[in-house]
Amino acid sequence: MIKNTSRMLGILGASIAMAFSANALAQSPIVVKFSHVVADKTPKGQGALKFKEVAEKLLPGKVEVQVFANSQLFGDAKEMEALLLGDVQMIAPSLSKFDRYTKKLQLFDLPFLFDDMAAVDRFQQSDQGKALLNSMTDRGLKGLAYWHNGLKQLSTNRDKLTRPEDVKGLKFRIQASDVLEAQFRQLGANPQKLAFSEVYQALQTGVVDGQENTWSNIYSQKFHEVQKTIANTNHGVIDYMVVTNAKWWDGLPDDVRQGLEQAMAEATKYANDEAAKLNERDRQLIVDANKAKVQTLTKEDVAAWRAAMEPVWKKFEDGIGADLIEAAQKANS
Ligand code: LMR
Repeated sequence: MIKNTSRMLGILGASIAMAFSANALAQSPIVVKFSHVVADKTPKGQGALKFKEVAEKLLPGKVEVQVFANSQLFGDAKEMEALLLGDVQMIAPSLSKFDRYTKKLQLFDLPFLFDDMAAVDRFQQSDQGKALLNSMTDRGLKGLAYWHNGLKQLSTNRDKLTRPEDVKGLKFRIQASDVLEAQFRQLGANPQKLAFSEVYQALQTGVVDGQENTWSNIYSQKFHEVQKTIANTNHGVIDYMVVTNAKWWDGLPDDVRQGLEQAMAEATKYANDEAAKLNERDRQLIVDANKAKVQTLTKEDVAAWRAAMEPVWKKFEDGIGADLIEAAQKANS
């Protein structure tokens, strides 16, 4: 009798515990891990924080967004894999880092393709630009938005940096992009693919002599403290695609997916409005810091860089598609 009662109590206890945990499960928020490699005070860092703020406001108790900046969770080498494995739900790699998934996005790395960020924006918002957001769904990656950073500048540990011949024989850190590799080879320099988190040390120890990046990345990573000259080349763009795991995204409850879509739209607007301001602020902070010299270039200097780099286009035209290159060029007018 006592035995039976205690067995029944045991069964009762177990079912109460199960009911409680099922309840807790039903109520526990969906966790969205957003991992990226830059500092909080950059366009992408600000965009990710804004996305968290808006998503949690629109979906209270339903969603918790955890932002991991500065490669603290996953760096360049691992973040794409982590997304596909479901270890994170959102990342925003630069458009240069999708080589393995599609050749189409190589478009954005073609040197001197866009005259300014307004042209980049016009192209991204065009039908062809928007279509690229879905160019990797067969590989499990869904593009949710483009986020701006800005135009790239070139820096080295040398005093002279006005013309292409000044970088001959120098070693440059590049992002994992075949176009960028070809661009530096075209200049007679030696490119080396390195993760973003490794760049400062590589510059400091002389593993590489130079790099290319936006003002906000240069300032927030202190590259200007370990470089002698930064030339205002504006020779290319660093922008991002916010991507998610397509299967995870499609499996979300409709209201959550819609809320996240809205949060992404608001964060995108915010990040893209901030990008130009942050880059201009950081350009000025670099000038004020007076560590690296900021080299302004004449029209003739810029024309020389353009002429030296442009032959790269031909090499990648087939993979990208001549029609896409043409559409991007149209955005300049
Ligand atoms: C880089 O690797 O230089 C950039 O792509 C980093 C970033 O995400 O802005």
